[in-house]
Amino acid sequence: MMLKITEAVNFIKAIYSHRPAVGIVLGSGLGSFTSEINIEKEIPYADIPHFPLSTVEGHSGKLIFGELGGKKVVAMAGRFHLYEGYSAEQTVFPIRVLKFLGIDTLLLSNAAGGVNPAFHVGDLMIITDHISQLTPNPLIGKNDKDLGPRFPDMSEPYKKNLIAKMKVIAAKKNIKVREGVYVAVTGPTFETRAEYKMILTLGGDAVGMSTVQEVITAVHMGLPVFAMSVITDVGIREEENIITHEEVLQAAKEAEPNFKALFCELIAQL
Ligand code: HPA
Repeated sequence: MMLKITEAVNFIKAIYSHRPAVGIVLGSGLGSFTSEINIEKEIPYADIPHFPLSTVEGHSGKLIFGELGGKKVVAMAGRFHLYEGYSAEQTVFPIRVLKFLGIDTLLLSNAAGGVNPAFHVGDLMIITDHISQLTPNPLIGKNDKDLGPRFPDMSEPYKKNLIAKMKVIAAKKNIKVREGVYVAVTGPTFETRAEYKMILTLGGDAVGMSTVQEVITAVHMGLPVFAMSVITDVGIREEENIITHEEVLQAAKEAEPNFKALFCELIAQL
């Protein structure tokens, strides 16, 4: 594992030599966040040794290096999901690479289904905790002590100080943000009515097909995490309502101005 990480890191450093301070993962429909970055270099995943390839519409598949809010940042436009057929370990390889490129903070975003009955399409939700027990853990397998401990503590997967900072930023900008528990599923099916109900019963506020593996991997390596969901649909509450990927992308796009404003300010304040 370490050898593969080192090969990918060395390949990238030969093309782009600055150390990024912040890593950003852009979720479905949030790819245009990259227009906020003063771009210095783009590296397609296909070029990077050992990187998986992004196969989903709405995920473009490259690392974008540049400057934002006075910081060097690296954004992942496109991430890897279990439903694409990758193992949990494969989906998080890029997160390991970002850590060894030198990032101090990881900011994650995703499109998620709202299950909390108070949530509406277009809401932004700060992820305060998660439930990952319905999906495979990316740390299953031999542990590499150079990466992190065998049994990582998960009592604060999302850094409280970053959550507090974001709440102040949102209040100042007059942008309403929710807080809640993200429940991860594998997808690719959206949930049945019974499953949305189950997720609510389990203590979830939102459900999605990504993020938790990345968070676990970051925590394993001691990398501070902040994550936000865009609520792109609200589960199935009415008999006639169905959910489509197009609807998810459209809702994410509409929420994007607020998402951008919040993430840009958080990055500036890191
Ligand atoms: N369920 C799972 N993943 C999702 C959803 C959903 O309703 N919306 C966006 N990603």
